[in-house]
Amino acid sequence: MFTREEIIEILTDESDDNLSLLCSDAHRIRVENRGESIFLRALIEFSNRCQKNCLYCGLRSSNIDTSRYILSEDQIIACAVKSYNIGYGSIVLQSGERRDREFISFVTKVIKEIKRFSDNKLGITLSCGEQNEETYREWFEAGAHRYLLRFETSKEENYYRLHPKDRFHSYSDRINAIKTLKKIGYMTGSGFMYNLPNERVEDIADNLLFLKELNVDMVGMGPYIPHHETPLYEERNLVRLKEKSDIMKLALKSIAILRHLMPHINIASTTALQVIDNQGREKALASGANVLMPNLTPDTLRENYSIYDNKPGVKEDSELISLPFPIAYNEWGDTI
Ligand code: 5AD
Ligand code: SF4
Repeated sequence: MFTREEIIEILTDESDDNLSLLCSDAHRIRVENRGESIFLRALIEFSNRCQKNCLYCGLRSSNIDTSRYILSEDQIIACAVKSYNIGYGSIVLQSGERRDREFISFVTKVIKEIKRFSDNKLGITLSCGEQNEETYREWFEAGAHRYLLRFETSKEENYYRLHPKDRFHSYSDRINAIKTLKKIGYMTGSGFMYNLPNERVEDIADNLLFLKELNVDMVGMGPYIPHHETPLYEERNLVRLKEKSDIMKLALKSIAILRHLMPHINIASTTALQVIDNQGREKALASGANVLMPNLTPDTLRENYSIYDNKPGVKEDSELISLPFPIAYNEWGDTI
């Protein structure tokens, strides 16, 4: 177990030898506790409509430059069937945030249909933002059993540098939503972005320790990547690390430290790492991460789901995965 001071020391250390040691240790801990295999979740970005206005994200409601879509039930089911047939075992239904009844009922219906056609074999993770307890329960009872909701940054004052302070964006609501998900019984995932404008190394250490404090089951974290149609773009030069290779090192350090702190959880090798390094995902999987999320969103819509500039996977063939690790097909891959 690392202390806060040790984490800060690792994050500021510049030795490549120390970094490889840290990562190979984290890999060993992952294999000991979670096995050799990588778990897959097929990512279906089923709608980019969003009521929120996060200052960093290209899908924010004020961005009128993005053309908005929602997949039909049939389209989502077709993606789910494809995932099932490939043997992915588990899917993530991700969207922007909407809290209207029509949307809530639509998601419920889709969950039930996926559970029905797969005879309950396909695991469902939702990533549809902050909702009230009743909605979270409705979706849980319909058959979703995991939920992803990042806190983005663990300190309240930092949260409001990334989000407008209004009724749609509240730090305490976000943290309470994560706790509600856990209370209901979801396997709950959270995470944060790093290399944000004005970020200090201490903030990253606190974010990592906050994941431990929340005792989450899964983590997805990734580098902040500026999007030109967002307010935070103006602050893009205030990020601490400018070189992609340095951001990649920070990514590996964060994953490896977290694996030391939380040996049993699922840690995703996130898509954003691919922007930083074309071997980014593979490096993360050798440094403590154990989950990969191939994108199965229909090709024609993928470019509309642009949370940041140059999002990869727009042309990637999600069925062709070659990794230096065994892949667990047809499994949910829950944390123990
Ligand atoms: N750069 C990196 N990650 C981003 N996200 C949103 N916008 C960006 C960006 N510009 C992440 C947030 C959100 C997740 C779905 O995508 O962490 O929780
Ligand atoms: Fe909407 Fe999520 Fe983007 Fe915020 S980060 S604007 S909630 S899609």
